[in-house]
Amino acid sequence: MAWRKAIALEELKPNGVRSVEIDGKPVALYLLGGEVFATHGICTHALAFLADGFVDGDTIECPLHQGIFDIRSGKALCSPVTKDLETYAVKVADGEVFVDIDEGKKAATED
Ligand code: FES
Repeated sequence: MAWRKAIALEELKPNGVRSVEIDGKPVALYLLGGEVFATHGICTHALAFLADGFVDGDTIECPLHQGIFDIRSGKALCSPVTKDLETYAVKVADGEVFVDIDEGKKAATED
């Protein structure tokens, strides 16, 4: 695993989404129920930043054509999106959020 520091935890709003760039890759960070999750930052349907979309429960709605993804799994849930989002491992340590864009599907843990 190669953890990259992404953002300070306090910069994430509960039930919100925030865009960051890690090694040139757009990543969307979410704070849900005190846990941090990370997905690829661009919709799999077309060029739309998910951080401009809408978080509803555990899902993110794309701002462009309203496709919906499960934030935790990256699963594409409704048309027009059919391809799942990449998800990335996240950890929180010393108030900082770290993301491993090489590995995925792990919820945040507080060290
Ligand atoms: Fe996201 Fe079309 S760009 S649903």
